[in-house]
Amino acid sequence: MEERRLGPVVGLGTWNTFGDDDVLAASVVDAALGAGVRFFDSAPMYRGAEASLGAALAGRRDETTVATKISTRSVEEGRAMYGRQIEWFGRVEIEQMHNLASWREHLEWLEPERGAGRIDKLGVTHYASNAFDELAEALRTGRFDVVQLPYNPHERDAEHELLPLAAELGIPVIVMRPFGEGALLRRSPPVEALRELGVDTWPQALLKWALSDPRVDVVIPATRRPEHARANAAAGSAPWFDAEQRRLVERLAGR
Ligand SMILES: NC(=O)c1ccc[n+]([C@@H]2O[C@H](COP(=O)([O-])OP(=O)(O)OC[C@H]3O[C@@H](n4cnc5c(N)ncnc54)[C@H](OP(=O)(O)O)[C@@H]3O)[C@@H](O)[C@H]2O)c1
Repeated sequence: MEERRLGPVVGLGTWNTFGDDDVLAASVVDAALGAGVRFFDSAPMYRGAEASLGAALAGRRDETTVATKISTRSVEEGRAMYGRQIEWFGRVEIEQMHNLASWREHLEWLEPERGAGRIDKLGVTHYASNAFDELAEALRTGRFDVVQLPYNPHERDAEHELLPLAAELGIPVIVMRPFGEGALLRRSPPVEALRELGVDTWPQALLKWALSDPRVDVVIPATRRPEHARANAAAGSAPWFDAEQRRLVERLAGR
């Protein structure tokens, strides 16, 4: 099971941040790379982010992992998305079936791509807990190598079934929305509490909260600010939180 792990690491998400702005993408991605980030998540529906991410990663693809998605129910359109991704990224390390769209149909043409070594891993994602039963069903087929799901102190539904199942099956977990799309950052706890946790910032505490669950491999916070990318990356190393520190983060996050 251990060699299948991807983390624990901090990656970079790309939804709603730099879109097709190549200059902004380059500055955020450069900051992330400089801080040691090597994992990047994108999707065709992120308004041009795949293309600008691909440009920002040029020359660094041998040391980076791109996790992107097939975001359509149509197999024909899915193949076209994959073709564009090959142009932008050279290859795709992790291809995820976005929001469970036609996942059985997409597996049929993507499994041979993985078999031929053109894709390393196939994944499946959903953002909504009412889709978690189907996400679990997909994992139980044994055909997926990775799962992406939401997990933060305000969204813990994954603890009921998906995180235990992923651990049982040895499937690495990528955590989307570690800040609840920013909602968890509206207020910051007192400096003394952060000191007790051994972190400098509240976002770092939230990232460490997720990564300190041994079933979690990668967190993919999104930002349009290079300094945030650097600060977030600093949460990707030990020491990890113990159970008591995780409970403290949960209390601080409130509701
Ligand atoms: N598969 C799916 O269905 C799905 C769904 C949602 C998301 N995702 C993936 O998960 C990624 C992350 O989720 P998300 O983008 O929804 O939300 P998120 O990462 O939970 O939150 C992003 C927000 O946090 C702020 N932020 C980031 N770092 C910060 C810092 N150090 N200090 C202060 N503010 C900070 C950003 O603002 P600033 O720009 O000001 O830093 C942004 O507004 C996405 O980008 C995407 O790659 C996947």
